[in-house]
Amino acid sequence: MKTLSELSKDELLELKKNLEKEYNDEKSKGISLDMSRGKPSAEQLSLSNDMLDIITKESNLNTETGMDIRNYGSLDGINEAKRLMAGILEVDTENIIVCGNASLNVMYDTIARAMIFGVLDSTPWCKLDKVKFLCPVPGYDRHFAICEQFGIEMINIPTNEEGPDMDMIEEYVNNDESVKGVWCVPKFANPSGIVYSDEVVKRFANLKPAAKDFRIFWDNAYCIHDLYYDNKEVKLLNIIDECQKAGNEDIVYEFCSTSKMTFAGAGISAIAASKKNLDSIRKYMSVQTIGFDKANQLRHVRFLKDVENTKNHMKKHAEILRPKFDAVLSVLDSELGGLGIGTWTRPLGGYFISFNALEGCAKDIVAKCKEAGMVLTGAGATYPYKNDPKDSNIRIAPSYPDAEEMKQAAKLFALCVKLVSVDKILSAK
Ligand SMILES: Cc1ncc(COP(=O)(O)O)c(C=O)c1O
Repeated sequence: MKTLSELSKDELLELKKNLEKEYNDEKSKGISLDMSRGKPSAEQLSLSNDMLDIITKESNLNTETGMDIRNYGSLDGINEAKRLMAGILEVDTENIIVCGNASLNVMYDTIARAMIFGVLDSTPWCKLDKVKFLCPVPGYDRHFAICEQFGIEMINIPTNEEGPDMDMIEEYVNNDESVKGVWCVPKFANPSGIVYSDEVVKRFANLKPAAKDFRIFWDNAYCIHDLYYDNKEVKLLNIIDECQKAGNEDIVYEFCSTSKMTFAGAGISAIAASKKNLDSIRKYMSVQTIGFDKANQLRHVRFLKDVENTKNHMKKHAEILRPKFDAVLSVLDSELGGLGIGTWTRPLGGYFISFNALEGCAKDIVAKCKEAGMVLTGAGATYPYKNDPKDSNIRIAPSYPDAEEMKQAAKLFALCVKLVSVDKILSAK
């Protein structure tokens, strides 16, 4: 089989004619598909509907320590919710604060506190001439949006299958005092799906930052979101343990939530960190709030119970998600395999497939899909400042449409990739 670049100009022109006809046929079908955001489907959300009946007026409305969930109190989470979230993140309960409905807000607040008040006893970041964050790419657009809003300069760090380029991270962190943070999605990363290797986690834990207020922002959003539980659960080395072993326990903040376990944006979230970090966070939080929604915390604990039961619940999510990922991957393999016009990831968990098109093609592919009725995440969104220097990466989110729609969507996507790539190759002939 020839790759598209190996075809002659005439062969490419012929192919282009056929693809255009196919595209116009697809367009006339009036398709309307949305693959833009990693949202759980209604079927997944329904897995947790029983949670809505778990607390009624007949229920025991006291926590295990006898606290009335209807009243004020409990700044950092009820005991049983701390135990649940600590179990999920494999940390001690004393290293956990349970927060509100979702984790993005916790990450935003963590940066906002550092900007306004500083980290522990350091100078507030807003008083510094420059604050920089390292951003492994491709990455999560909302992390980058937070930095952009606070005027934090972002530096792209390339990523491979093992994780971010650690030589580059060490070089920056260990020598540049204006580097105050790094964003990490260490397991089933958004969008690449990669899982950081043990060596990468250890190198993070052993960083020797030039800035004493440098922090790793370890967003473990997909910590138990395996797609193939039946084979073997994918293991990520525990960053909190590794930092403790390295004598570096204050260097990390870890985040997670139940958004993709129960209800998206209506779950419970947590931050895990050293006691010193958490004490400082509690001090500022105590002015910001009297506490988060204890009814929701109790509802979650009574429904999810413990980490083992939560993993069983996640297997049901995996059953629903897996056919959708498989549908996309089988279409990409059959339609684009061997053509030399793109590469894509085969994640073992999480919510995304990451596609890398020929350089300079991503924006045009996304636009072509849109013209035919399919919305994808904007090209460039996976990079700081929405600027993918190679205009190559596209994030595919297969969770929301059903498997049949997903197949149709993947076919249309592959068709657009071929069309745009043929034009690109032709323009260079
Ligand atoms: C890496 C990552 N972190 C955080 C979130 C958002 O989580 P939450 O709903 O807890 O704010 C997402 C959602 O897509 C995500 O992909």
